[in-house]
Order: sequence, then structure tokens, then C-alpha cells
Amino acid sequence: MRATAQAQPNIALIKYWGKRDAERNLPAVGSLSLTLETLWTRMTVEFDRDLEADRLQLNGESANDMLPRISRCLDLVAGADRARAAVTSECNFPIAAGLASSASAFAALVVAASEAAATGSDTLTLARIAGAVSGSAARSLYPGIVLLTAGDKEIRVETVTSDWPLELVVAVTDESAKAVGSGAAMLRSAATSPFYAAWVEQQAQDIVTALDAVRERNFSALAAVAEHNCLKMHSLTWTSRPPVVYWNEVTMSCIQTVRKLQADGVPVFFTIDAGPQLKAVCLPQAVPAVAASLEATPGVRRILQSGLGAGAHRLSPG
Ligand code: DP6
Repeated sequence: MRATAQAQPNIALIKYWGKRDAERNLPAVGSLSLTLETLWTRMTVEFDRDLEADRLQLNGESANDMLPRISRCLDLVAGADRARAAVTSECNFPIAAGLASSASAFAALVVAASEAAATGSDTLTLARIAGAVSGSAARSLYPGIVLLTAGDKEIRVETVTSDWPLELVVAVTDESAKAVGSGAAMLRSAATSPFYAAWVEQQAQDIVTALDAVRERNFSALAAVAEHNCLKMHSLTWTSRPPVVYWNEVTMSCIQTVRKLQADGVPVFFTIDAGPQLKAVCLPQAVPAVAASLEATPGVRRILQSGLGAGAHRLSPG
């Protein structure tokens, strides 16, 4: 009745932004992401009939604000008549600052809960459950470069390849939690941004372009479509009412740093999620130059680095 699982966050190159069905948390658009290697969340789930309520400890402290989503997720994995659970979570990177901590948390949670309850559910079933709680979490069940397809009734998730050694260098510019969560912000974009319909309409083509680039290992083609898609997503948040601006001045300086590297012929591009960190994607030989330039950008607090990693998996013993 007890299991521990680990999952890594994933970073979208073609973004999920918008919901087709808010109640079931079905995404309005497909997305394409990189599952990381060195950043992780570990979740231990222990079902216990003697417990009266679920409990959650996050990095050693009780975290009641996340508990309702955790409990819902446990119900979806193990059934509403399940025993209550003691859940402990450990995470080696800043939470809720746009580094996809909820993705790795819920991906690890569904695997740990499924193993602890011996449900025998397959990976796609668990990915759909994780996605129902947090859309991007579905992708962290899978390794490498991951495609999420948004159907009318359900999602499909699959690895496109684990065989292109892309590297991620994150410039952390601010470690505090974001003011507006991504779920709320995307609902606001759908309701108020004049650009939302165009975003949804163009997403399938962006995904095709990105998949072609991945298949051909064409880094500059992937760079062009990923930066364009990221800037479109942020255009939605800027043009929502009231607007949501996730960037700070250091985010902008980091964009200029990436532009300078590109001008020098370094294979790198940026992406930014619902927070002020800049994520630079590059080829392995470019990591030292990219990391050094971002680290030297005034205001950058620290650099994180990761290659591509595995999907969520049980840690044993645990
Ligand atoms: C900007 O998965 O956090 O990171 O489904 O409401 O939990 P909910 O949203 P969430 O949104 C992620 C948004 C993004 C882009 C992406 O990861 O594709």
C-alpha cells in the first residue's frame, strides 16, 4: 500500500494554452514538450485505512493548499472508495515559478498512487488522469520529446523520439511563486484576448512544422517555430483583460542574450512559460557558451541545466 515514484518536469516547445472543456481539463490545443532529466519531484503515497483524511507534506512541511487537487487525483487513480493517504513530496527545484513543478508533481503522484494501490493501469491511462488534474502533467509520463494530441473527448500522449540530445539551460530570474496561475490565466485569455481564436486555429500547423523539424533534426527550423509559438502564447496573456505579464526585466535581458548568441552562430533558442524564467534550448556543444552567457546576464540568480530524461517511474525500493 506504499510506493515512491519520480517524475521530471517537462518544458513545452509548442505550448498548451487554453481548455476545450474546463471541467474535464481537456486542452484546446495539442502541444510538444521536452521531458527533463536533472530536475525532479519524488512522491511517496501510502494508503492507510486508519487515516481519517489525506495528508500532504511538501519538502518536509504540510501543504494544505495543494491537498484538494492531490485528493482528487488519488480518487481518479484508486477510486473514490479508496483508503486515505499520507503523501510526501520532495522537489529539487523552485515550486510554482514557471518551472512546471505541478507537471512533475502530478506525474509522480499518479505513478506512486497506482503502484501503491496495485491498479495495473497503463501509462496512457495514468497520463490522462494526470492531465485531468494538470494538463501539462500528462506529458511527464513519457520520456524525451513528447507529443500531446488534444481530441474531442480525450488526449493521446506519445514519445516522438528520445534520440536527439537537446539540452536545456534555465536562467532563473525570480524564485517567488507566480501571481496568476496558468490555469486561471489561460481561461482569461480564452475569454478576453482578441487573438485567442487565431492561436487555436494555427496550433495544428505549428505542431506539424515542429514535428518535421524534429524528424529532420533541423535545429534552426525547430528554433523558429518554438520561439514564434512561445511569443504567441505570451501575446495572449498580454492582451487578456486584465492583462497577465509573466516576464520581468531580466527575462527580457535573457532574450537579448539568446539573440546575441544566435548572431554568433550558437545553436540556441528560448522559450518561456507562465513565469519569468528563460529556458534556453540548445545542442550539446553549445551548453558551455549558453550557460556562461546567461549566468553573466545581470539579474540572473542561478542557472539550471538538464538533458532529456525518462518518463515518470517507480523508484524501488519505495
Ligand atoms: C505555459 O498544465 O499548469 O506551461 O491544466 O490548468 O494545470 P492546468 O495548466 P498547466 O499549464 C501549463 C502551461 C504552460 C505551457 C505548457 O506547459 O504547455
